[in-house]
Amino acid sequence: MEKIKVMIVGNNDNRIFELKSLLGNEEIAFVGFTKYGDSAMEKAISLKTNVIIIQCDNEYDDAIELAENVYVKMPGCSVIILCDRLDVEIIEKAMRAGVRKALQFPIDSKTLIDNIKTAYSVEQSRALNSGSSSVNMQSRVITVFGCKGGIGKTTIAVNLAVVLANMGKKVAVIDTDLQFGDANVFFDIDSKDTIAELVEDRSSSDIDTIKRFTYLHYSGVSVLCAPRSPEYAEYVSAKNIETIINTMRPYYDYIIIDTAPTFNDASMTAIESANLVLLVLCMDISTLRNTKTTLNILDSLQQKDKVEVVINRTTDGIITIKDINRILDMQIKNKISFDFKTALTCHNKGVPIVIEAPRTVIAQEIVQLARNVIKIIDNKV
Ligand SMILES: Nc1ncnc2c1ncn2[C@@H]1O[C@H](COP(=O)(O)OP(=O)(O)OP(=O)(O)O)[C@@H](O)[C@H]1O
Ligand SMILES: [Mg+2]
Repeated sequence: MEKIKVMIVGNNDNRIFELKSLLGNEEIAFVGFTKYGDSAMEKAISLKTNVIIIQCDNEYDDAIELAENVYVKMPGCSVIILCDRLDVEIIEKAMRAGVRKALQFPIDSKTLIDNIKTAYSVEQSRALNSGSSSVNMQSRVITVFGCKGGIGKTTIAVNLAVVLANMGKKVAVIDTDLQFGDANVFFDIDSKDTIAELVEDRSSSDIDTIKRFTYLHYSGVSVLCAPRSPEYAEYVSAKNIETIINTMRPYYDYIIIDTAPTFNDASMTAIESANLVLLVLCMDISTLRNTKTTLNILDSLQQKDKVEVVINRTTDGIITIKDINRILDMQIKNKISFDFKTALTCHNKGVPIVIEAPRTVIAQEIVQLARNVIKIIDNKV
């Protein structure tokens, strides 16, 4: 059985030490402690914490704020608050913030452990039963699209996902290029289970089932791969894709969707479900022309507001970035240089560029893209 991962947040070192010594139990794994502050959430997410114990001397407001954040952003993780002094008002505030249990010092090991186990099982069933109707408004769906093959959509989707995971975010990649999707190759995943096998399963709209069909890459990114062969594409409908995205939403901070270089039902669903569409283009005249048309189509479908253009493989050539800005009538901030050797080596090795060659310009530019994306998307949701 998997152990319950417990983390402690608090500013009082003696109390934390005391609490840690009470956690000795074979069903519990103490994963770490941290002080109050911005990094507490990030640490809890990256450690995949199941139960957070907030030790509270008198920092009630900070404790409540943290509990609220956990409730919204970490379905499946529950909070226990442990105070020196408890009164009705504090208990009421804590419960409203989604705290599972408010306890008071002194406390013995058995009481603490029993409460952890109960908090864990109650929260697990809440998360499992929440289904697609309970959409975590904090989750962000980013669809990487482009009107031409080979322009770097998958390269960008995969590396962006890894950068976000490195920042402590919970990230999933869904490959919706149903005929020739190859995100698994970029992650070096031998995809036995794919989206095609998933939708064959009767409970494919259940988060536990979806997780069974996804691969957890060592970077922390969960990957739902495209079908192994084009003939399986027809098993996966646009409705299936929409349901999968909606079911996964509450469980991830970012869902990155890779697409085929064409307007089909799958890519349209991915675009419509997105908070942000990264439209990738290269600096050749055909791609530029097609990108202009793509933007017009997205405009007529009322999807253009969520588009952010990324120029990939930038080089000095006849067409300049200034030309592209003028033709597309926008100021493009996201640029990734042409670096054939790094991109191809990483592609063939199945190791994302930002892991294999983090010091290269191209890796740094992808990190910058991730920063831009976070800023833009935060303003949109
Ligand atoms: N900035 C870059 N510089 C040089 N090569 C790159 C760059 N970005 C991607 N590539 C290379 O271009 C090739 C195509 O990239 P990728 O598979 O990501 O494109 P795609 O748009 O997803 O293609 P498809 O539409 O066929 O799925 C890969 O070999 C990749 O390594
Ligand atoms: Mg691709």
